Amino acid sequence: MTRGIVEAIEGHYSALALDALHQLGALNRLKAWRSHVELAADCGVDNAMLGPVLDFVVATTTLLESDGMGRIRLTSGETEHARIAHMLDQYVGGYGPALAGLATLLRERRWGEALVDPDRHAAAFAGDNDGGNPISETARIIIHLGTTGVVELGCGGAQTLCDIAGALPELTAVGIDSNPAVVAQARRLVQSRGFADRIRIVHGDALDALTGISLDGVQVVLASSFLNAFWREPGDASARLRRLSGLLPGRLLVVSDYYSHLGAGAGVDRGSPRTLIHDLVQAVSGQGVPPSSVDAWAGAYSGADAELLHVFEATGDGIDRFVHLVRLPDRPATARASGGPGHYADPPAPAARPNPEQC
Ligand SMILES: C[S@@+](CC[C@H](N)C(=O)[O-])C[C@H]1O[C@@H](n2cnc3c(N)ncnc32)[C@H](O)[C@@H]1O
Repeated sequence: MTRGIVEAIEGHYSALALDALHQLGALNRLKAWRSHVELAADCGVDNAMLGPVLDFVVATTTLLESDGMGRIRLTSGETEHARIAHMLDQYVGGYGPALAGLATLLRERRWGEALVDPDRHAAAFAGDNDGGNPISETARIIIHLGTTGVVELGCGGAQTLCDIAGALPELTAVGIDSNPAVVAQARRLVQSRGFADRIRIVHGDALDALTGISLDGVQVVLASSFLNAFWREPGDASARLRRLSGLLPGRLLVVSDYYSHLGAGAGVDRGSPRTLIHDLVQAVSGQGVPPSSVDAWAGAYSGADAELLHVFEATGDGIDRFVHLVRLPDRPATARASGGPGHYADPPAPAARPNPEQC
């Protein structure tokens, strides 16, 4: 999708207007028809300003509709409402401040991480708390493995751990996350779903925290949307994996992540705006753009002497996602000069691997 300058600015303003409505609770109220006067009263905001803002969003997006008699509502159902909130929390609220500071970041990229709003990013991953949502493919795979001990690096709101614990009564698990707002959410979910005696949530950097907890019963290490944060410099991801192998040698690592479009350094696929948006925030937030192919991910694993055992792949919500089953080495590798690929690095030689399956 391409836009001229007018359409680009229109899209930018639409996203900001939608995010303001989301933060005010107005989007939630627009699940039913409302006039701007009613909505302004509900939300305690200026109705003279709210009217043109709502009309702008109606005119420029497909998310709001007007009944032609001054009332407006969201066009979509519950599932799409949750997705809209997730997208706004993540990309406008969470990563938006980093994008707004891009001119500065292009000179001083080390500030990228600090500009991400941790509370809005946490809200994006809070999810529903009642266990009524469908279980993720990643959780299904781990349930199928029948493990009794899991540690999740960057556990977010602990939805996956709770889903696994619900299906595996013998399971004990530890989830680690560095964002205090996320840790609080995860603890609430674990408590509310009755798993407080089996799932422990630890606050801290995932690898640092592993050194302080008992890892005896851990068979499976889960890294779901976690390893994509370590591609700023060539070798970062392999270095993390080497350290992980030293702490949990021989364990099965389940990597659930995505293939980028901007990570190959070989041009842009214009067909997937969702992936391009995510790649961009990876870059500006200092995480780096993760690899765009299974072979490049396999190169990072082999840079830590870890072995890619199995590949599941599927496209969801405009993103090419995967689950890789990786065996960590019994004895951790020492650092290499190349240390695996970084973004815009030459792709490594393909590792031997089984045929991909759809998940
Ligand atoms: C994209 S979210 C994924 C959450 C969850 N694993 C999921 O799949 O829904 C990434 C999470 O990793 C956490 N995180 C990032 N870097 C971390 C680190 N070095 N140590 C621990 N947690 C980290 C973030 O706070 C965030 O909650």
